[in-house]
Amino acid sequence: MAKKDLLSIYDLSLKEIKNLLSKAFELKKKRKPLDVFRGKTLGLMLEKPSTRTMVSFSAAMVQLGGTPIFLNIEKMQRSRGESIHDTAIVLSRYLDGLMIRAFKHSDIEEFAKYSTVPVINGLTDREHPCQILADVMTMMEFHKITNPSDLKKIKVVYIGDGNNIANSLLAIASVLGMDLTLIAPKEYLTNRELLNKSLEYISKSKAQIKVTSDINAIDNADVIYTDVWTSMGFEAEEKKRKKLFTPYQVNAELLKKASSKCIVLHCLPAVRGEEISEDIMAKYEDSIFAQAQNRLHAQKAVLLQFLK
Ligand code: CP
Ligand code: NVA
Repeated sequence: MAKKDLLSIYDLSLKEIKNLLSKAFELKKKRKPLDVFRGKTLGLMLEKPSTRTMVSFSAAMVQLGGTPIFLNIEKMQRSRGESIHDTAIVLSRYLDGLMIRAFKHSDIEEFAKYSTVPVINGLTDREHPCQILADVMTMMEFHKITNPSDLKKIKVVYIGDGNNIANSLLAIASVLGMDLTLIAPKEYLTNRELLNKSLEYISKSKAQIKVTSDINAIDNADVIYTDVWTSMGFEAEEKKRKKLFTPYQVNAELLKKASSKCIVLHCLPAVRGEEISEDIMAKYEDSIFAQAQNRLHAQKAVLLQFLK
């Protein structure tokens, strides 16, 4: 059977997303280690720092009976200019799968092109699909939604940079038919190409997607999701970003506009006092840390599906 990669949420059909969510909930409930991947290896190749992605994938692999292998990029020949082409072919001959965190989305596309084993996106400048599966799980848990088709009943607002998180959220909302509002300063709204892509799915799923710079669009939100103002790789813009994003901080004043049952999500790591105030971070830590925990269960479901 041909290998399948997970580079984007759009690599998953509606049915596959539903199956992954249901598997993740099942695994979370059982908590029992499985022995399905004995003798199998997953390479973890990260160009940028990571806590949750690196550790949840490692733990997930062990709990499924397999072995994660951390690939130290600085010690690999890639750091001396060995091509993606050659690296991908060689790694495929040792490993059963490869989880990559890369600066450039086009680099993991190139890895996937030459790799004969599945490539899983552990974050690029464009998407973070594994994160978003855990996020949707958390929305379902905290709003007591058992069927993903009912996610449309809650209003989800993402406030902040139109980055990898916003892009994957837009993608999953478009496929599942969710009610999603993306709020950011004009310069940092979701990019046009990805918005156009989402339209292909929205016509079928009837998702309600709104993209705006108006902070009042947060009105009645059931979920408020935010992320750092300056993502990894964009540090040169930090000063400019701080200035433009300051009115978009998730704080107590903003939360007054949300619904009474609203939860706050953050993919972490957070910069308290920037995108989220210290008190709101503390008040909503249940949902935020549950979201981080769900990475483990979502990652296990992903591995079971992709690393057959
Ligand atoms: N949310 C997330 O991906 O965290 P890490 O950068 O720690 O992996
Ligand atoms: N948008 C953030 C997410 C970190 C998990 C970044 O890319 O740095």
